[in-house]
Amino acid sequence: MTQMATTLTPILTKFWDDPQSWTLATYEDNEGYQALKKALAMQPADLVQLTKDSGLRGRGGAGFPTGMKWGFLPPPDGGPRYLVVNADESEPGTCKDIPLMMAAPQFLIEGVVITSFAIGCNHAFIYLRGEVVHVYRRLLRAVEEAYAAGYLGKDIQGSGFDLDITVHAGAGAYICGEETALLDSLEGRRGQPRLKPPFPAVAGLYARPTVVNNVESIASVPPILLHGHEWFADMGTEKSRGFGIFSLSGHVKRPGQYEAPLGITLRELLDMAGGMRDPNRKLKFWTPGGSSTPLFTEEHLDVPLDFESVAAAGSMLGTRALQIFDDTTCVVRAVDRWTEFYKHESCGKCTPCREGTWWLKQILGRLEHGQGDEEDLDKLLDICDNILGRSFCALGDGATSPITSSIQYFRQEFLDHLTQGGCPFDRSASTLFAKDPVSA
Ligand SMILES: Cc1cc2nc3c(=O)[nH]c(=O)nc-3n(C[C@H](O)[C@H](O)[C@H](O)COP(=O)(O)O)c2cc1C
Ligand code: SF4
Repeated sequence: MTQMATTLTPILTKFWDDPQSWTLATYEDNEGYQALKKALAMQPADLVQLTKDSGLRGRGGAGFPTGMKWGFLPPPDGGPRYLVVNADESEPGTCKDIPLMMAAPQFLIEGVVITSFAIGCNHAFIYLRGEVVHVYRRLLRAVEEAYAAGYLGKDIQGSGFDLDITVHAGAGAYICGEETALLDSLEGRRGQPRLKPPFPAVAGLYARPTVVNNVESIASVPPILLHGHEWFADMGTEKSRGFGIFSLSGHVKRPGQYEAPLGITLRELLDMAGGMRDPNRKLKFWTPGGSSTPLFTEEHLDVPLDFESVAAAGSMLGTRALQIFDDTTCVVRAVDRWTEFYKHESCGKCTPCREGTWWLKQILGRLEHGQGDEEDLDKLLDICDNILGRSFCALGDGATSPITSSIQYFRQEFLDHLTQGGCPFDRSASTLFAKDPVSA
């Protein structure tokens, strides 16, 4: 029934190369809003069931079954219920939602209308990362177009169903991608995670039942409805169904978005992307799902990129942000840079992450410059041990992933910094950090 991937499956990325891919007219030329017409003739409960049957799992990182999440909402009580789309996308390496909203925003808007109808929501929100003003403008225009065509507003397509969408631009904080911090930020508070329970399904935005889903999860709903849950479930692997956008970046010949069934391998993706940027260079390390997922190396080239196989190999599928590094890259330096990010983005609510990320950065910076001693490696691992599983939210856990995995695979490279009194890499040969002021 399920198949391994050897080819791409352009669905959400199908018409990105069209001259005006972002317009409603282009979307309608590509089956746009056909799924909505189908949805409005169905019972909301049947839409939830169809999504469950498709096997769609959240594309925001954790892979929680989407239909099951919708099914957690309590029965309607006459008060408002909300859909909030998580468009914060701030993880280093993750770059799929922003191109999707830029190239084909109507996929998301149609998905929002169908999902809102399914869960009984009349006011949906899209929470967008604040820095991407061009995407904000594009989304606002796309929402305007959808209103004008009668896909949003009152009595959508004569169905009696009403829906408004508010596009909200955040202020640019990684923690506001964590769903409960996002809700606090949307309510006008400082973005910090909430204690769970209660979960958003019970008490989310304005303490009302709320579904929070990733952009790609919601954008995948129209094609699933249009082509059937069997069509979707037939792609991918047994427990990781369907297709997803794999974002290749770094030392690769043709970086970009590769939409393929889950279960494809990096070896297959690299083949399609033309291989390493410099064919004389070797793949050294890579992230399967952004900087908060433990590093992989060349030995993991054939790990199927589905939730289960990546976990079994010691990492996480995350957001399928495949950052590729060749052997000109100093792993200590790369990890030091990511750790600087986590230290900066730690929201400060809990002690293990607030204090721990600061100390991790101090030690790593020291090591990268050849200072400190071998005991610092144990100190790093000890601090990671005190953060992992002891932090208030997953940002703290994520901060430890690059450190523990790099020490696991490249311990000797850390030690080389100490014995050689500094970084053994020729920074001018590394294209990755060429513009860094420290290496200049
Ligand atoms: C620090 C942090 C940042 C996150 N950033 C995002 C993000 O930018 N986009 C996103 O969809 N999920 C992000 N998540 C995951 C969300 O909390 C949540 O699981 C997700 O939005 C659920 O959507 P899904 O079920 O459709 O995947 C983040 C989680 C953490 C801990
Ligand atoms: S783990 Fe970090 S980001 Fe999350 S609540 Fe604690 S301090 Fe804030």
